[in-house]
Amino acid sequence: MIKIAPSILSADFARLGEEIDSVRAGGADWLHFDVMDGLFVPNISVGIPVLKSLRSYTDMFLDVHLMIDRPGRYVSAFSKAGADLICIHLEADTPEGIHAALREIRSLGRKSGLALKPGTPWDAALPFAEETDMFLVMTVEPGFGGQKFMADMLPKVSRLRDVTEGFGMGTLLEVDGGINPATAALAAAAGAEVLVAGSDVFGAADRAGRILALRGGKQA
Ligand code: DX5
Ligand code: ZN
Repeated sequence: MIKIAPSILSADFARLGEEIDSVRAGGADWLHFDVMDGLFVPNISVGIPVLKSLRSYTDMFLDVHLMIDRPGRYVSAFSKAGADLICIHLEADTPEGIHAALREIRSLGRKSGLALKPGTPWDAALPFAEETDMFLVMTVEPGFGGQKFMADMLPKVSRLRDVTEGFGMGTLLEVDGGINPATAALAAAAGAEVLVAGSDVFGAADRAGRILALRGGKQA
């Protein structure tokens, strides 16, 4: 069962509540919340106060993608602000720091996620598998919406799918970046279960039609 997670990075922030209502009514499963610190990635987005406002506005599942250096410093603040899942980047700290942050996320009662930049090989994730509820394969360089899908990431998705299926770990697999109906089909065929889409969903007037198309339904 494919989940669609619209990324609010491409939403109109002046009308965020209405934007969320429109994707919720359009059948979105999760909301994807991109946090950028201007260090780990060359861009700055939104953070804790905005997440807190969203949490009091909606009961949708909030999938928080931290593109920040040494994310362990902020795990408890994002948990308190209402994240359901907190996804950190494998490249953002030492292995010890990543292990500790993943454990802390779970100890706070949240789902833990581990994201891999395009240059990071699939097997770098293996030492963290037991502490991770979701792997995120980045299909663009993190930092900006509206980039082109990197099809050469598909084998990474398949390899991680083999691992999670083979070991029966129940770990979810998400892709993020350049997802549209055509690339969604490729990612889903490779084994992705959660599809993040920013510009494709929020750039379309017909949100429901677009979300349906991302699931493999009739093109909007
Ligand atoms: C990029 C972010 C993505 C972004 C995706 O660093 O992690 O979530 O919003 O945007 P699109 O779907 O436009 O590629
Ligand atoms: Zn993201």
